[in-house]
Amino acid sequence: MRLANFRSYVSAEIVTSGRPVVLAGPNGAGKTNLLEAISLLAPGRGLRGATLSEHTRKGPAPIGALWGVSATVNRGADSCEIGTGLEGTPGGTTRHVRLNGAPAQSSADLGELIQMAWLTPAMDRLFVESASGRRRFLDRLTLGFAPGHARASLRYEQAMRERARLLKYGPRDPAWLAGLEQQMAENGLAIIAERAAVISRLNSALAERRNAGAFPCAQLGLDGDADRMAAANGEGTPDAFREALERTRIRDAETGRTGFGPHVSDLLVRHTAKRTDARDCSTGEQKALLISIVLAQARQLSHMREGFAPILLLDEIVAHLDATRRAALFEEIVALGAQAWMTGTELSMFAPLSGHADIFEVAESRLTRISE
Ligand SMILES: Nc1ncnc2c1ncn2[C@@H]1O[C@H](COP(=O)(O)OP(=O)(O)O)[C@@H](O)[C@H]1O
Ligand SMILES: [Mg+2]
Repeated sequence: MRLANFRSYVSAEIVTSGRPVVLAGPNGAGKTNLLEAISLLAPGRGLRGATLSEHTRKGPAPIGALWGVSATVNRGADSCEIGTGLEGTPGGTTRHVRLNGAPAQSSADLGELIQMAWLTPAMDRLFVESASGRRRFLDRLTLGFAPGHARASLRYEQAMRERARLLKYGPRDPAWLAGLEQQMAENGLAIIAERAAVISRLNSALAERRNAGAFPCAQLGLDGDADRMAAANGEGTPDAFREALERTRIRDAETGRTGFGPHVSDLLVRHTAKRTDARDCSTGEQKALLISIVLAQARQLSHMREGFAPILLLDEIVAHLDATRRAALFEEIVALGAQAWMTGTELSMFAPLSGHADIFEVAESRLTRISE
């Protein structure tokens, strides 16, 4: 993995073996920046959800150099080169994405090549904050199973924005609006169906381990008008979806928001053993639930893809875990064969991984390999 002009890094190269990776170092050393760079090799805006220009390194010379991240992805005998970054255009800058040297249309294309999930300290409040974070989390998990999910989401959002613009500024041409609502209906139902399929896969993977493992069993569900409608009528009813949008035109024009669709759905999570909603659990329990869900996804993906588990980015993951749970997490990651990138301030926390991981110390945005 290589990066240039990325946040605190002028440049860096990190060579890994496919085993888990540990990045240990003090606050501000550049650990999260590295994980963020990796996360940009998956569809979307990365683990901080930042704007593209925020990634470019600020500070003394070389000013004006734009950020770039690239990696060689090895899977058994297959290998591919992927890269992304900003490049200058006459109108400013745009993001480029390259697969094996050839330009791709958008970052959505990366989903075919790389499956990734992440947990960050910012997600510690996932269950108590607004639904958007939970939707993003669910969509990230969904992408692992359904790479087309990124494209369906893009098309849905494009049509939704266009419809909102027409409702606000006009012309309120019924045929034009109906065309956009049709596009929203088709892609919206695809999004709902993919999310529902992933939830049912994850629920069975979680239930299989109900009484085993150090992490609690969770049960996931989807909540939203559009989800209920799709479930009640089966999946093949774009007409019903389109009619629901048509009925809400006036309300949407008044509020300036689109009130119906998968973009307002929520992910519900229950702590099975405690029979409570995740939002009512302690911070530590919430973190354990998230880990449990991410590991269930990794197990499922690994089953589906002949042992190739997704890449996991686990920022400050050990901070909340006691020694038993820490050991259980490491054991599961090693058993999965997942390339989990884990950060922490104390190298000693990762002692059980010695001999099973690529271990690096990070200081002032420089990496030093500790393990062989
Ligand atoms: N665009 C940027 N240009 C230069 N430095 C940045 C940029 N964005 C963040 N930084 C700096 O990167 C440093 C390391 O951040 P981070 O990777 O989050 O550290 P940590 O090791 O604690 O996870 C911080 O000091 C931050 O100020
Ligand atoms: Mg950090």
